[in-house]
Amino acid sequence: MTKKLFIETLGCAMNVRDSEHMIAELNRIDNYTITQNPSEADLILINTCSVREKPVNKLFSEIGQFVKTKKQNAKIGICGCTASHLGSEIFKKAPEVNFVLGARNVSKIKDAIRQDKFISIDINYDDSEYAFGEFRANPYKAYVNISIGCDKKCTYCIVPFTRGKEISIPHELILKEAEKASKNGAKEIFLLGQNVNNYGRRLSNGNKDEFNFSKLLNALGKIDEVKRIRFTSPHPLHMDDEFLEEFANNKKVCKAMHMPLQSGSTEILKAMNRGYTKEWFLDRAKKLKYLVPNVSISTDIIVGFPGENDKDFEDTMEVLNEIRFEQLFSFKYSPRPLTDAAKMMNVVDDEIASKRLTVLQNRQTQILDEIVKKYEEEVKEVYFEELRSNGMVAGRTFENSVVNVEAGEELLGEIKKVKITKAQRSSLFGEICG
Ligand code: 5AD
Ligand code: SF4
Repeated sequence: MTKKLFIETLGCAMNVRDSEHMIAELNRIDNYTITQNPSEADLILINTCSVREKPVNKLFSEIGQFVKTKKQNAKIGICGCTASHLGSEIFKKAPEVNFVLGARNVSKIKDAIRQDKFISIDINYDDSEYAFGEFRANPYKAYVNISIGCDKKCTYCIVPFTRGKEISIPHELILKEAEKASKNGAKEIFLLGQNVNNYGRRLSNGNKDEFNFSKLLNALGKIDEVKRIRFTSPHPLHMDDEFLEEFANNKKVCKAMHMPLQSGSTEILKAMNRGYTKEWFLDRAKKLKYLVPNVSISTDIIVGFPGENDKDFEDTMEVLNEIRFEQLFSFKYSPRPLTDAAKMMNVVDDEIASKRLTVLQNRQTQILDEIVKKYEEEVKEVYFEELRSNGMVAGRTFENSVVNVEAGEELLGEIKKVKITKAQRSSLFGEICG
């Protein structure tokens, strides 16, 4: 009898990849296969996110639900960023949990399932012989870690405390992994790291890698089977000319850039320790648009950071109006334990923060309604990667818009020309035309 694994993955792409890593390990050592039904699972894993407070609060009620419905001897493991930051407190609050595995320690899943109350949350854990997990949830798109951890210490962010110091993975290993994945059918390579464009600064042995991020993109572009390269997340501070030019000139790099602004106010950016000003951000975004006129820029914005006044918020709105982002992830500031911002006294009233979030999101909706119209009647190259339950197949354009087409699974893994017939805010619809 094969054992069954139920795994829930919250948070970012990094977590998605860590889950793939654990799934591969569990399959290798104990023949686990995945189930979507927690009540028939022998092992229940929650791969958690701690970037904001809400999901952390939800965790314990969720564990309670699983405890009620799980099979009698099924184990429960809590992994990821919340595991790193709460550690053994999880056992105290939820004694039914069998093990706790931090975001930097997922490769220890093999030890975790063998011992009761196993805990590993060491953020200095140095996986120097970095092993890429064999399993891929989506065979058409290969997530490839290029670095782990983060050195930035933005004052609102808990990640440096959960994922530890930034360490780059040697470029030879990354290239080999990309070659392997693309030969196995993944036309798209999706590079992952907290600050991808700071790649190469420190390997686990303390040395620099010979390659910086631009060189890495260049080398990946030379692999024949790789047709598309994406990455997340770059940092605006490291968007130097060399990087922007490689991004523009490399024909395989998808023309979608995530530029996490966080705030448009130089004062607030300083308090956030972001390392750039409003002017630097605007300058980089404009240079990017000049080099790649059809580029699609997405961003993250936090409102209600301590000390943010009306003028600061206006600065944020100004950047929103000037750059016209094609995607906005917006959040109300959420104080996180261990961070410097959590100690700041000049807290913004919750009602004001909520109002700002609404103003920001409403304006973005208007901008998007204007932007998407330009796609109607256009012909786009779409890489199909997902079967939808409504009889459609979804893919992405080179600029990262989602396109749905009525067709069957024969389209999966194919790049086709599509004429856009309908453009909505969150996705486009079209017909194959070549
Ligand atoms: N409060 C609100 N949003 C946050 N983010 C990170 N930390 C916080 C916090 N404490 C947001 C940032 C980041 C995204 C992943 O989550 O915008 O880019
Ligand atoms: Fe990802 Fe950050 Fe959430 Fe950790 S805290 S899962 S790194 S988004």
